[in-house]
Amino acid sequence: MPPATVPTINIAPLFGEDMEAKMQVAKQIDQASRGSGFFLVSHHGVDVLDELFRITKQFHTDLTDEEKWKLAIVAYNKDNVKQVRNGYYLPIKGKKAVESLCYLNPSFNNDHPMIKANTPMHEVNVWPDEDKHPGFKEFQEAYYWAAFHLSSILLRGFALALGKDERFFDDYFKKEDTLSSVRLIRYPYMEDYPPVKTAADGTKISFDSHEDASLLTVLYQPHVANLQVETPEGYCDIPSSDDCYLVNAGGYMAHITNNYYKAPVHRVKFVNAERLSLPFFLMLGYNSKIEPFTPHDPSAPPAKPAITYGHYFEKAMVDLVHKNGQT
Ligand SMILES: [Fe+2]
Repeated sequence: MPPATVPTINIAPLFGEDMEAKMQVAKQIDQASRGSGFFLVSHHGVDVLDELFRITKQFHTDLTDEEKWKLAIVAYNKDNVKQVRNGYYLPIKGKKAVESLCYLNPSFNNDHPMIKANTPMHEVNVWPDEDKHPGFKEFQEAYYWAAFHLSSILLRGFALALGKDERFFDDYFKKEDTLSSVRLIRYPYMEDYPPVKTAADGTKISFDSHEDASLLTVLYQPHVANLQVETPEGYCDIPSSDDCYLVNAGGYMAHITNNYYKAPVHRVKFVNAERLSLPFFLMLGYNSKIEPFTPHDPSAPPAKPAITYGHYFEKAMVDLVHKNGQT
């Protein structure tokens, strides 16, 4: 199979005031989102990607089994009842090699109204011991806001591409209540790798086909290319990049645009190599509700009913774990 068409889009104009230049970017976003569903983003303004990689790699190297257990999400450690989403996702010897740390909005603290109200999907982040991992929490929290800022700029491009005002998403994607998460995923190299699944077309896979449970996914995954997107002809390889982000729409984007931008179905190929995959899953607020519409087509039949981001996300997460297993 030839590789998927994944253009690199220079988004620099989205940071500026030149509307004509912005519309050119929007046009490219539109073509890519109507095509393979994936595109690379250059000139994104995040200048800590090398550091992110280095610090995250060091974290995974230094973290002990005992620390992993202490930080584990409730699916692995039933004592950690407040960690459905955030915390450590453990490897299981002989069964599952992938492991990750997930963290949420740093402004979720014990005084946050959604935390006080025990609203689902909102959690106060747990972090490893500062003495053992000096500067780790501080760096990752700063990274969260860097990825948030880039995402808000990207959403301007998407808004224009959808025929909306560039600030269309601003009311729904806010610092104080975004459910966005960062996942620091490690795929290890192992002499004795646990059994891996083989797909119907004979490809060995690390994570089976799925749509992302997000509005957008903004992924930094350098060095090793291992993603594939489903096309009418079969699965096609997606390139990796050491300095660009890879962006694709998630299920909520498909819902609100009446499938004008589909959430591309993709999977992770098995590659026995030490590597990191660092997604920012761009999510709206729990109560954000965008009325579905058909872009550029006012005479389109009524779209699906509106659902809040929270309700979409709760169901999408359950469905994903049900389909692909606990990550
Ligand atoms: Fe994915």
